[in-house]
Amino acid sequence: MSEITRSDFLKRTAMASAALLVSSLESWAATTPDKKLRIAEIGCGSVSNRYLPQLLSSPYLQVVSLCDIKYERAVEQNKKYNVGAQTYPNINAMLAGVPFDMMVTTTDMQVHGELNKIALNAGKHVWSEKPMANTYKEGKALLELAKSKGLRIWGAPAVVDSPQFAFMSKTLQEGKLGRVSSAHGQYGHTGPTWSAFFYEKGGGSMPDLGVYNMATLTGLLGPAKSVMAMLSIVTPERTVDDKGKIKVEAEDNAHLLLEHDNNVISHVMCGFNFFDTHGHEAGTTSMHSIQIFGSEGNMRLIGYDWETNGVVLDNSYTEPPQLLSTDKGGYEWQEGARVVGESIVNKTEPRINVEHALHVLEIIEAARKSSATGMKIKLESKFPWPMV
Ligand SMILES: NC(=O)c1ccc[n+]([C@@H]2O[C@H](COP(=O)([O-])OP(=O)(O)OC[C@H]3O[C@@H](n4cnc5c(N)ncnc54)[C@H](O)[C@@H]3O)[C@@H](O)[C@H]2O)c1
Repeated sequence: MSEITRSDFLKRTAMASAALLVSSLESWAATTPDKKLRIAEIGCGSVSNRYLPQLLSSPYLQVVSLCDIKYERAVEQNKKYNVGAQTYPNINAMLAGVPFDMMVTTTDMQVHGELNKIALNAGKHVWSEKPMANTYKEGKALLELAKSKGLRIWGAPAVVDSPQFAFMSKTLQEGKLGRVSSAHGQYGHTGPTWSAFFYEKGGGSMPDLGVYNMATLTGLLGPAKSVMAMLSIVTPERTVDDKGKIKVEAEDNAHLLLEHDNNVISHVMCGFNFFDTHGHEAGTTSMHSIQIFGSEGNMRLIGYDWETNGVVLDNSYTEPPQLLSTDKGGYEWQEGARVVGESIVNKTEPRINVEHALHVLEIIEAARKSSATGMKIKLESKFPWPMV
């Protein structure tokens, strides 16, 4: 994007967001006398254990409904976290139940799009786990629907919220790496063991894992213009808790090349076959997962981009690399729904941006197409950038 186009784009997006925020706030204020944004979480599986403590910690939010088609899970989570919510076995029952303002979607990936659409049509704001829809087209239609109704929709991940992302973005803008050319991101483990949907059509390591690196690298380097990819299935059969032995239909091994503006190229590698003793937790790892190279320096994000431990800046021939930006400032990857919910209440615009989530969704779809055809796939989506 040229400078003029970019500033125009930013201005237009900011104005549109402000108008949307005002209209959505008006509808919220009219329906919420106690000033708390009423939350309904749909999908009470593994990740709800991370979401619920976040949502319950906020003085601005009240979790009023929990829903799961495995109904006992909604009941269990309500009890385990002492939520005091109403519980429901499906979205229609929930919509007919106690009123709420924002739906938090943490179900199987494949049903996010349809559930988010039902919620928007019922006049609810939406925070969705990734991906916010199955296709870029479906995601874009959801955003249009939200806009037409004066509602907001956002999609995970929340990696741009970390102080380490902000530090890296500022370091790049200050020119401390010189002329930037290349970047790499990687994330993998040996795959979830609890649910089949990760391996079924519409699942895969890109929407589950690579999505974090794609959000970080585009967030730092700007929107991608085109994608080339190779995807494969390394483990054709798996045994999972909910369905036993299953055939793996979605990629479990992915390499993507992203072309950004100014001839910058980045690479993402993700998969469900990566031995990594840290697995699902970055803990105190000193390994990096993102690296950006310029002509006068390089920097490495220590830990995962969703669980950050600091940034190593290496830009001197005489001084050793420095470990900087080690303070997480309270950032947690599962904070997205809380942050956007609070932004509605406090009339602020969060850094997490739905056009960014849509851009990442377009990248994932383009990677599947590129791998199937051997072609380089052009992208159309943009998002307001730089983000910090
Ligand atoms: N588990 C994690 O650590 C983690 C981390 C980050 C993001 N995520 C994302 O969170 C989402 C959920 O993952 P999970 O690991 O919690 O999966 P899970 O299988 O543990 O939980 C999903 C739940 O959604 C319910 N569900 C499915 N369809 C539904 C419907 N139509 N209506 C109501 N409930 C429905 C299922 O019954 C299940 O209880 C995925 O998008 C995943 O990528 C998970």
